[in-house]
Amino acid sequence: MNIDNNINDRVIAPVPLPEERKIENTLRPQTLDEFIGQEKLKENLKIFIQAAKNRSEALDHCLFYAPPGLGKTTLAHIIAREMGGNMRSTSGPVLERVGDLAAILTNLAEGDILFIDEIHRMNHLVEESLYPAMEDYELDIIIGQGPSAKTIKLPLPRFTLIGATTRAGLLSSPLRERFGIVNHLDFYTGGELTSIVSRSSILLKIDISDEAASEIARRSRGTPRIANRLLRRVRDFGEVKSAGKVAIEMARYSLAALEVDESGLDAMDRRILKVIIDKFSGGPVGIETIAVAVSEEVDTITDVYEPFLMQAGFLARTPRGRVVTQHAYTHLGYTPPAKNQEELF
Ligand SMILES: Nc1ncnc2c1ncn2[C@@H]1O[C@H](COP(=O)(O)OP(=O)(O)OP(=O)(O)O)[C@@H](O)[C@H]1O
Ligand SMILES: [Mg+2]
Repeated sequence: MNIDNNINDRVIAPVPLPEERKIENTLRPQTLDEFIGQEKLKENLKIFIQAAKNRSEALDHCLFYAPPGLGKTTLAHIIAREMGGNMRSTSGPVLERVGDLAAILTNLAEGDILFIDEIHRMNHLVEESLYPAMEDYELDIIIGQGPSAKTIKLPLPRFTLIGATTRAGLLSSPLRERFGIVNHLDFYTGGELTSIVSRSSILLKIDISDEAASEIARRSRGTPRIANRLLRRVRDFGEVKSAGKVAIEMARYSLAALEVDESGLDAMDRRILKVIIDKFSGGPVGIETIAVAVSEEVDTITDVYEPFLMQAGFLARTPRGRVVTQHAYTHLGYTPPAKNQEELF
């Protein structure tokens, strides 16, 4: 994701921190059975994978949309592995010219997986050249210019395109319609995140109690990447302060030191909610106005902060703008207004 640097050092930023890429690979589940949660999606994928394999065909093109850190890239790797194809990764903004995409497509082998991250940020000419490739496994190459220009069709191997995006709404409908398998990933439950924290603790050899694992899980904004990061930070406290052991007290102490509150909100989340309450009487207020008031980019607020604030019931979207909920008032220690703003719309 293209997120400003200023939020990249947040302990609960759902985007990966620079030093995190390597460790993410070690913690990445390798098979669908190791992949925790998203049960419905996994069940369906297993069937589609099995069916494609039985027919010796490439899997249909897949689109995964979800906020950052929920497992889109992980799923692409797992599919490539289960289908037994090689995975080639690129991203929407990297594919600047049609030639960039053509070079990748013509180098694919039968059954390969092409993963395009941030697929909503592809230039429209590149996007259009992808249509025949997805639909007919053909690449249209234009030779020459003007009236004598000719189109030749180059056959491509049968490949599977896996697209990932944080916002399906930004995808053009012709592109979206060319995916046979479209899936949204949901935020994870506390129980699922506890399993993820326990699994990562084993892989990283961290001595952690069950209670401490579920405390970290509860404050991870439903996001595996954040759960894994909090686990590593808590481990640091445990190593320095309690001989490598992480018990519940140590987890609570570390999370407080990291300024991650009981619900997993950090200073910026609280600032967004407080601004709406203090300056705009709880809303409704437009997203642009909020962005200016907290000096943050609109995209960062909609992609990174808002999905969790809405999912956890702190913020609601109405036709006239965002409103904070009763829950937000009480969480921040304010007295909720007699008639909640939400009910007005
Ligand atoms: N279901 C899961 N079970 C266990 N670990 C998971 C799961 N989903 C994600 N993770 C962990 O979270 C990390 C982040 O996941 P991943 O990179 O797949 O997210 P993403 O959706 O591609 O994020 P982005 O939008 O930033 O690209 C992975 O390294 C992996 O360790
Ligand atoms: Mg990713």
